Amino acid sequence: MEPAYWHSRWEKGEIGFHLLTPNPRLLTWWPQLQMPTEATVFVPLCGKSLDMVWLRQQGHTVVGVEISPLAVQQFFAENGMTPQVEQQGDFTCYTTDGFRLLCGDYFDLTPAVVWGETASCAVAIYDRAALVALPPAKRRAYAAQMRALAPSGSRMLLLTFAYPQTDFPGPPFSVSPAEVHQLYGAVADIEHWCDEEALSLHPGLQARGVRELREHVFALRFR
Ligand SMILES: C[S@@+](CC[C@H](N)C(=O)[O-])C[C@H]1O[C@@H](n2cnc3c(N)ncnc32)[C@H](O)[C@@H]1O
Repeated sequence: MEPAYWHSRWEKGEIGFHLLTPNPRLLTWWPQLQMPTEATVFVPLCGKSLDMVWLRQQGHTVVGVEISPLAVQQFFAENGMTPQVEQQGDFTCYTTDGFRLLCGDYFDLTPAVVWGETASCAVAIYDRAALVALPPAKRRAYAAQMRALAPSGSRMLLLTFAYPQTDFPGPPFSVSPAEVHQLYGAVADIEHWCDEEALSLHPGLQARGVRELREHVFALRFR
């Protein structure tokens, strides 16, 4: 999934991954992380997710990264916000009260660009439809980059799902709990908080031939 693929999907409005309400798993599980309200939350591959609005409503400062300018612009327009826009190295940075969305490539990020002055404060990461959006080889690179970006002690709420990859080639891709441990086990303590049958929550995948699907929620603490 190269950038051109995602640009094309946003241009054509093929954004079936976008939810019109905050993700129920976020609402259920985020409070369990017990992050202080002043914590900054990094949302990789953020799209125009309303989960960011919900996180901001909890008091958090939200930092997202997204490769499509259309997604970023739609996020602010659809939520009635007018951001300041400035160039920061490789990224076009859209900022308004409590939100900083970095338009550019996740793989070009550095910790200083993501966290800025907040690096010494409590920080967390929220991954929904980011790891599962990427094919296997890119997932390894994605996790390596995340390890480079995540400060020691930071937490991550990670939502994934697993289904027989032979039923449908992706994206979105199946990511098993075993793979989550392969990707992050050496650098983070991992708790597996939820493992539920959830095919009916994914009618798009069901229509494409997926016969079984389980949703997983993980809480990580980076060492
Ligand atoms: C499946 S969508 C999920 C969006 C969002 N997390 C959500 O829950 O609605 C994946 C998003 O990642 C963006 N993306 C893909 N590759 C990227 C990259 N290398 N850097 C930044 N964003 C990327 C795409 O444009 C797309 O909006």
